[in-house]
Amino acid sequence: MDGIIGKAIFLDETKNDDVRQATILLIGVLGLTEPVQPSKLAQLAFNRIIPGIVGKLEGNMAGSIYSTPRIGVGRHTGYAYDKWLDALGLPVHTGYFIEDLRKAELAPWEEMQCNAAMIQLEGMHGVTGACVMEIPGGGSMTPTRFALDETIFVVAGHGITTVWTDEGKKHSFEWGPRSLFCIPQGVYRQHSNARGDQPARIVANNYMPLAMEMFPDPKFFYADTYMDPGLLAADGSSEAYSVATRSEGGRGATWRGNFFTDLAGWDGLVPHRQRGGGGHVVDIEFPNSVMGGHMSVFPSGTYKKGHRHGPGVVIIIPSGEGFSVMWPDGEDKVVVPWHEASMFVPPNRWFHQHFNVSQVPARYLALSPLKQTRPGNENFVPREDQIEYPDEDPWIRDMFMAEVAKRGGESLMPPGAYTDREFNWEYSSNEEAGAEIFGAHLSEEP
Ligand SMILES: [Fe+2]
Repeated sequence: MDGIIGKAIFLDETKNDDVRQATILLIGVLGLTEPVQPSKLAQLAFNRIIPGIVGKLEGNMAGSIYSTPRIGVGRHTGYAYDKWLDALGLPVHTGYFIEDLRKAELAPWEEMQCNAAMIQLEGMHGVTGACVMEIPGGGSMTPTRFALDETIFVVAGHGITTVWTDEGKKHSFEWGPRSLFCIPQGVYRQHSNARGDQPARIVANNYMPLAMEMFPDPKFFYADTYMDPGLLAADGSSEAYSVATRSEGGRGATWRGNFFTDLAGWDGLVPHRQRGGGGHVVDIEFPNSVMGGHMSVFPSGTYKKGHRHGPGVVIIIPSGEGFSVMWPDGEDKVVVPWHEASMFVPPNRWFHQHFNVSQVPARYLALSPLKQTRPGNENFVPREDQIEYPDEDPWIRDMFMAEVAKRGGESLMPPGAYTDREFNWEYSSNEEAGAEIFGAHLSEEP
């Protein structure tokens, strides 16, 4: 095994420039006797190398194969969005995940007065797009209009964002590490770094790949777009960019607002039974926006149930350490190691499952898919699209136990969960009461 680890790390030292060289090395590592497609080869590499040594390798394999920044080269899907990325000339991060958004390679984006890279991970499937941007110390980005709603997660640093319309007053709000906010479609926005001594880094998510299939000209999105001054009035019940307020609906802890201070400290959560793992959840709604999401928090030494749904659900880790496994039904598995500021997107209809192997609770933020691809619509079948613990591949449990033990921990999965498909996880009475305040109901979300 040490030899394999050594070669895997050596792949990272190729600096991603020579895919052919990496392929030759991988074929040697895996002992393959027949040629395979590069994508299949990558899956094989993860399946055979990563399980059992996630803690040792961390992001080395990720950096070499799955998140290769490719300057000015998109995925060549033929999508209008990918052609635009080619023209921009910025790094494009592809693959299955980005191990650390704080360290992702960027390049100057003169037009926006920042350093930036575009993100096109496999699971985005031409539906969602993302861009990571870094504002230099003391700097401000170019004031911009953008035609689509955009959610922004703060990867690092502190800053101020100002939003305004032609008719309304300016709204400014401060943000810090792990803040989450939404900028409504069509309004002006300007992001500034509030510190002079350190850069600030944000990642913006939107549906631009899908929208550009209908309007292929990028100027449509950045200039002379339709503007609705009412969008900055929030929903009439709260001031825009004040802290979110709790509202009815969802699974009992829906918070509604344009701004969430620090997702690592957000504690307005309720039990989340249907996905197992003893987890808690908060649902996030942005007023007047199709975008939104939820954050799940689950305890040390546990893991969630495997499930699958449609494409484009961007997952970002606010805190904790663990990994996720993703796989198309019946095929090889991809392992994604994660910690704060990791990002990944489960591909369309791939099962995925989240594991906490650290000593503290882990959190993941999942930005909602479009309604058309969301579980709860016609395309989610509980017994087919979620794997109960008694039905899972034994490899899952074995791998989890090994990884927890490797870190000196132990599994806190209750034995009953492995024998009873209807197993009812125990929560405190206070937690149960919190969920009932607004009449929580069982619903399936990504
Ligand atoms: Fe999911």
